[in-house]
Amino acid sequence: MTDEELIALAARARRDAYAPYSRFAVGAAVVTASGRVFTGANVENASYGLSVCAERVAAWKAVSEGESEIVAVAVVTGDGVTPCGACRQVLAEFAPRERGLAGMRVLVADAHGRHTAHTLDELLPAAFTPEDLRT
Ligand code: THU
Repeated sequence: MTDEELIALAARARRDAYAPYSRFAVGAAVVTASGRVFTGANVENASYGLSVCAERVAAWKAVSEGESEIVAVAVVTGDGVTPCGACRQVLAEFAPRERGLAGMRVLVADAHGRHTAHTLDELLPAAFTPEDLRT
């Protein structure tokens, strides 16, 4: 799975965003350690606070189907935005166990496929992780 292929899947998922309130459509696609891909889009609600970001939908689809390590995530919006803080924290929970947050690639793309590549430790320095509960 190339970066471009993962971004294309996230762009496809973005078309299913349910965002009648913000009109801000987001698509995401995650790759798990075993190589499976799960996509998601943001899903809003008339009770605004119940809205969920695309990244979390994709991550929860993966985890609820037996995957617990995510090695890459692509996020597509119109202009290319990095994941919100809540999603960074949720993604951190499922970083690869051996490499941690440095082992998760985060691709941030706009609607034309232009993108930048990051790692989760760059986007969420000094993270609180499951490891911290074991001390
Ligand atoms: N949103 C995402 O899906 N991912 C992000 O990283 C930022 C925000 C969604 C939530 C809401 O449906 C809309 O974008 C506007 O905030």
